[in-house]
Amino acid sequence: MATRLDGKVVSKRILSELQQTVTGLAQQGVTPTLAVILVGSDPASQVYVRNKQRRAEEIGVRSLMFKLPEETSQKTLLAKVAELNQDPDVDGILVQLPLPKQLDERVVINSIDPDKDVDGFSPVSVGRLWTNEPTVVASTPYGIMALLDAYQIDVTGKRVVIVGRSNIVGRPLAGLMVNHDATVTIAHSKTRDLKALTREADILVVAIGVPHFIGADAVKPGATVIDVGISRGADGKLHGDVDADAVEPVAGALTPVPGGVGPMTIASLMAQTVELAKRRLHG
Ligand code: GUN
Repeated sequence: MATRLDGKVVSKRILSELQQTVTGLAQQGVTPTLAVILVGSDPASQVYVRNKQRRAEEIGVRSLMFKLPEETSQKTLLAKVAELNQDPDVDGILVQLPLPKQLDERVVINSIDPDKDVDGFSPVSVGRLWTNEPTVVASTPYGIMALLDAYQIDVTGKRVVIVGRSNIVGRPLAGLMVNHDATVTIAHSKTRDLKALTREADILVVAIGVPHFIGADAVKPGATVIDVGISRGADGKLHGDVDADAVEPVAGALTPVPGGVGPMTIASLMAQTVELAKRRLHG
C-alpha cells in the first residue's frame, strides 16, 4: 500500500513554524502583508480567497482584501495594482485568476512589481526560476516540493513526468524539479503514447483536471504519485486526476484528494509572503 503524503499534517506544521517567524518579525516592526484582489464573483475564486485570508489571519499575516465588481475596467484594476506596488507596507500582491473576460490577464500580471509578485506568475519571476536564481515561485509547485521534502523523497536523478503544462503548475514545477537535479518530461494532451511515458516515472505528477485519468496501468510499481487535480463529481464528491483506489496498491506514495497538494498550496503562499516580508528587514 502506498504511503499517504498528508498535506494537511505537513501544512499545519509549516504554518505553525511560520506563525513563530511572524511573531519575531512583528517584534522587529514588520507585519507581513498580503494584498489580494478579487474581481467579480466566481464562486470557486471566492472560496479560495476566503481560505487564503483565514490562513493568513491564523498565523498573524495581515491580509488586505480588495473586491472589485465584475465589470471593473482594465484601467481601474491597473490603478489598484499600481497603488499597491507603491505601498511600502504591502509585501505580496495576488490577483486572483481567472479574471472577467474584458481584462487581459497577461497585462495585469505584468503590471505587478516583480518583487511583490507572490504568485510567481510574472515573466521576471518565471525567468528567475528558469535561471535558478532565488525567487518567488507559484504556490502549488512550491508546495509539492515541500511535501516531497517533508517525506524525504529526494528528486535528485529521478525520472519525473509531469502531465499538464499550465503556467500555474506544470511549467513552474518542471523548473523547480530541474533546479533540484531531476530529469523532467512534461506531457500534455498531444503527447503520444502517454501511458508508456508515465510508466517510466519515478515521480508522476498529474495536473490536468480530468477525474480519475490515471489508473493503475499508468503507474510504475513503487512510484511516487502526486495528484494536483480536484474536480467535483456528479456525486458531489471531490475527485483527483488519479484513480486513488486503483493506484494505491501499485504506487509507493500517493497524495490524497482532498488533503494532499491543496493545503500545501496555501501554506506555500503564506511561506512566500513571509519571505518577501523578511526582505523588508534584510533587503
Ligand atoms: N486561481 C487558481 N489558482 C490560483 C493561484 O494560485 N493564484 C491566483 N492568483 N489565482 C489562482
